[in-house]
Amino acid sequence: QTSTMYNMWLQYKIVNENNKDFWREVAVLSNSCIARSIKEELRFALNSMYKIAPDITTNHQAKIVIGVIKEISGLLNGKQKEIIADLPEEGYLITNNQGQLILTGKTDKALLYAVFHVLREVQLGNDVTSLNVVEGPKNILRMVNQWDNLDGSVERGYSGNSIFYENGEIVKDKSRIRDYARFLASVGINAISINNVNVWEEETYFITKKYLPEIKEIADIFKSYGVTLYLSINFASPIAIDGLDTADPLVDKVRKWWKEKVTEIYQYIPYFGGFVVKADSEHRPGPFTYGRDHADGSNMLAEALAPYNGKVIWRCFVYNCVQDWRDRSTDRARAAYDHFKPLDGKFHENVILQIKNGPMDFQVREPVSPLIGAMEHTNQMVEFQIAQEYTGQQRDLCYLIPQWKHVLKFDTHIKGEGTTIEEIVAGNVHSYKYSGLAAVSNIGNDDNWTGNTLAQANLYGYGRLTWNPGLAAETIAKEWIQQTFGKKESVLKTMEEILMDSWHIYENYTAPLGIGWMVTPHSHYGPNIDGYEYSRWGTYHFADRQGIGVDRTIETGTGYTAQYEMPNQLLYNNIDTCPDELLLFFHHVPYKYTLKSGKTVIQHIYDTHFSGYEQVEQLISKWETIKEHIDVPRYKNISERFSMQKRNAKEWRDQINTYFYRKSGIEDEKRRTIY
Ligand code: GCU
Repeated sequence: QTSTMYNMWLQYKIVNENNKDFWREVAVLSNSCIARSIKEELRFALNSMYKIAPDITTNHQAKIVIGVIKEISGLLNGKQKEIIADLPEEGYLITNNQGQLILTGKTDKALLYAVFHVLREVQLGNDVTSLNVVEGPKNILRMVNQWDNLDGSVERGYSGNSIFYENGEIVKDKSRIRDYARFLASVGINAISINNVNVWEEETYFITKKYLPEIKEIADIFKSYGVTLYLSINFASPIAIDGLDTADPLVDKVRKWWKEKVTEIYQYIPYFGGFVVKADSEHRPGPFTYGRDHADGSNMLAEALAPYNGKVIWRCFVYNCVQDWRDRSTDRARAAYDHFKPLDGKFHENVILQIKNGPMDFQVREPVSPLIGAMEHTNQMVEFQIAQEYTGQQRDLCYLIPQWKHVLKFDTHIKGEGTTIEEIVAGNVHSYKYSGLAAVSNIGNDDNWTGNTLAQANLYGYGRLTWNPGLAAETIAKEWIQQTFGKKESVLKTMEEILMDSWHIYENYTAPLGIGWMVTPHSHYGPNIDGYEYSRWGTYHFADRQGIGVDRTIETGTGYTAQYEMPNQLLYNNIDTCPDELLLFFHHVPYKYTLKSGKTVIQHIYDTHFSGYEQVEQLISKWETIKEHIDVPRYKNISERFSMQKRNAKEWRDQINTYFYRKSGIEDEKRRTIY
């Protein structure tokens, strides 16, 4: 399959003929499975870009030489050898030594990343013959989580069905999985979990001989692209699989069961990554059933995995999901911190806590989770959601890189100024053994992988950020557009604007001022202001005829703000300093409360909802101006998605405005139509 939709950012279109001759012979010195991937990628890319079939040799005199340091040290000078010695395992050096382009590092994985770097530069139209680059990833773990089920469905998937499973079986034709591995490797992702964190009945058996041989095939594919495979597991597996009468992590026979199980898994897959675990969360089994805590639960698995260098990625999405809406003292936002912070230091060194970026659940706007960085002696990683569950479901456009940048730049002040999320997950603030980023993937078996073709940019950008969080959202957008759609100036400029504005636009026409939710229950697409108001999920806005918002202050509210370090605690707790965009997350205010912008809350609601809709119309007009430069299938796909977005934005605008007009009785200053 080589349609423009399918090829995402690896279009390998002819960009310039400049370096064509340079590529006729390429020396690839290694012979591992990763080296084979390198050769294949080069053949494919060079054929596509230059219509040449390169000679792939082991000739040290070739114009391009790709080899690990020990294979090519004769070609490098002392300084260059020192540079490589200092690099992490995945870091690489690309350098021109007297007309010869050398790609090197310590491992084959480093070479793979170097090759994708060079191919990116070629696609961006740059001269690569004189490249001089030293790069290493900022984060150790750069992971995606698939929420795919064996029946072929994808939980919160908006791009068709699973590429891994179909009708209760693992897919036989795994070529699409290989292509996915290519895309992931090309942006530096090095880990994947291939099944839903909610591990249902049959998927529980993934860790048995019924499925392990075929999972090994998938693991092999990913391995040849430097991506380590993990599985989500069911904490109650000993009961479900072998009929034990308990899954209590402190009971010997349970511990023994896991040890044997892990040994078995590694017999099939010696380079298995480990487990992703959703325990005691939304009715999934966990240690709480036995009066044990999350350290007990995860450490049991960690001990079983440790001899094989395996890891336990333990999710912190633990909260009371059967709350009584009448109960004003329970605050879901507090839950992760309240559960995990007291356990700091109790986790084994191969346990990593995976924490969602916000304290609730991937809303368009949330404060940063106060748990991130709050545990000095416990490995942590942050979880983003590339899948647009609450941000338009890949019908509406929402380029999420600016949101993630916002999170990564957030200064926790946990160890004084400059202790940002970015540095925490890189392991630079506390000395974490393992840390990094994970994200729920947004791909499925749609032709274009991501439903809305523009949503490919979120997968691309996520990968680039995990490697280098310092990249600007605009830079990532430009890179993606140029590789995906070519370098025509008007396309670049217009699409960059479209992408960069989209998060704020989505925020404008949906739930205001950080309050979140107000979505259709279950599906989470489209407005339903009171849809979750009297539910058990802990997601309330508390709007009445006087005002709206959740009081999370120390003095009169739930005390959530106390989970932040100073000065953030004060910043959020004090209504006068709390940023407008999060006001309703932290405070309950009257509709006539004046924001820092000078507008009242109610007028802000009206204005942003009218303008949000208009901004969607503008997005569409802008998009139409570049029609002639976009191929028909992709133009059609994106245009269709924009029409859906327009309908959705209209519904949000009118329902939100009408709801708050009826609640408050306050007129719009501009007297626009409210129903
Ligand atoms: C959200 C989402 C669920 C998912 C859960 C999780 O609540 O709606 O589908 O299972 O997050 O992250 O575990």
